[in-house]
Amino acid sequence: MACDRCGELLDVVYNWDRLHVPDSLKAFEEKWTRRANPHCFSGVWRFHELLPFAPLEQCVTVGEGQTLLVPSEGVAKYTGIKPGRLYLQYEGMNPSGSFKDNGMSAAFTHARCVGATRAACASTGNTSASLALYCSVTKLMKAVIFIGSGKISYGKLSQALDFGALTVQINGDFDDAMARVKEVSRELGIYLVNSVNPFRLEGQKTIMFRVLEALRWEVPDWIVVPGGNLGNSSAFGKAFHELHQLGLIDRVPRLAVINAAGANTLYELVERQGLHWNDGSPDLERASRYYDEMDATGRRADTIASAIEINRPVNLSKCIRALEWCDGVVREVTDEQIMDAKARVGASGLGCEPASAASVAGVKSLVAEGIIAADQRVVCVLTGHQLKDPTATVAYHTTDQEQFNKVLGSRGVRRAAFANRAVAVPNNLDEIIKAIRLYG
Ligand code: F0G
Repeated sequence: MACDRCGELLDVVYNWDRLHVPDSLKAFEEKWTRRANPHCFSGVWRFHELLPFAPLEQCVTVGEGQTLLVPSEGVAKYTGIKPGRLYLQYEGMNPSGSFKDNGMSAAFTHARCVGATRAACASTGNTSASLALYCSVTKLMKAVIFIGSGKISYGKLSQALDFGALTVQINGDFDDAMARVKEVSRELGIYLVNSVNPFRLEGQKTIMFRVLEALRWEVPDWIVVPGGNLGNSSAFGKAFHELHQLGLIDRVPRLAVINAAGANTLYELVERQGLHWNDGSPDLERASRYYDEMDATGRRADTIASAIEINRPVNLSKCIRALEWCDGVVREVTDEQIMDAKARVGASGLGCEPASAASVAGVKSLVAEGIIAADQRVVCVLTGHQLKDPTATVAYHTTDQEQFNKVLGSRGVRRAAFANRAVAVPNNLDEIIKAIRLYG
């Protein structure tokens, strides 16, 4: 999936002049009236003309992309945004419970086009759950997944196991698993579906098409997204750049990519060391030096947001390009900020996993800094479902100090500001009624 000469990841580029693209984005709405057709029902393939790398009849769908854009008063208030101006793009509603299904439907389609019989990924959990699901539903391929030791939440591991994927747990973290899966795929000719795969990014562009659709094709001021391997941010930048080039939107939104402070390679390189796109020649030596120094000092990513616990983001260059296209910024947020933001998201009704809440914590910081204005229209992408990592959620809300310290305390979360503690009551009717009267 990389160029033989320069080693950079491949990119999907279309010759739009030879393709049919509707004159107006409104044309995509009409497909919803034909939703009995699986390709019109799919939140990815409904936009086929904007990711036309395979014939429609070859495109694989399991019904991905039925997701929601919802305004949230509670989260708006928490972050300092005016009522009605903050929206949550809830990707937890995908079949495997995360945004990954958008990209997987596209990568799977390409895999099918090239006749692959096995597909592999390294994963912090969601990519593997998605790959396993597509393999299990379609029976087109067998899934081989690589995970690090103790670096995956049970919610996600349970999906991969239940869907029947061959699961290889190696001694190491996500970056170690990523390096190995690349070697193994090359050696055994297995199709790789990590976001080094440019077709994954094509599918993930559609998250932004659905955001625009939900906003009646109006462009918001900000898109805020957690940054791990940087597939989403890269895909979102590409989506807006292409729509702008095609004359389908008249401006692009700004992009904010939010790292966990314990896994902040992008933040360090962009905001502290000034790494920029530089007309297509970013100083990637700077990144190499940063990685060498990381290895020399034995520093490894460490955050409660296990989905984004990544040292060497594979899409670094493409993300830097997206930051250029979208006048973007990068911020880091602590685990405590992430868990508090997650609790506020949960209290508003759309539960998410820790990594997803980085976007909300990021908005709060950017509003405090004066970079996002309170009356701007902001979309936070909630990348994964709350039930993906119940351990982190329960530890945050728990009355059990030992559990709190074990899961959260060691990650620098000292105080659960929005904990909704379970009330312990003796098994006695009067006591139970008393407790409900007291707390209810
Ligand atoms: N949020 C969630 C819930 C994720 O699972 C991931 C990545 C990200 C955010 C980061 O997205 O890589 O596009 O910047 N999870 C990968 C996995 C690494 O293996 O499931 P990104």
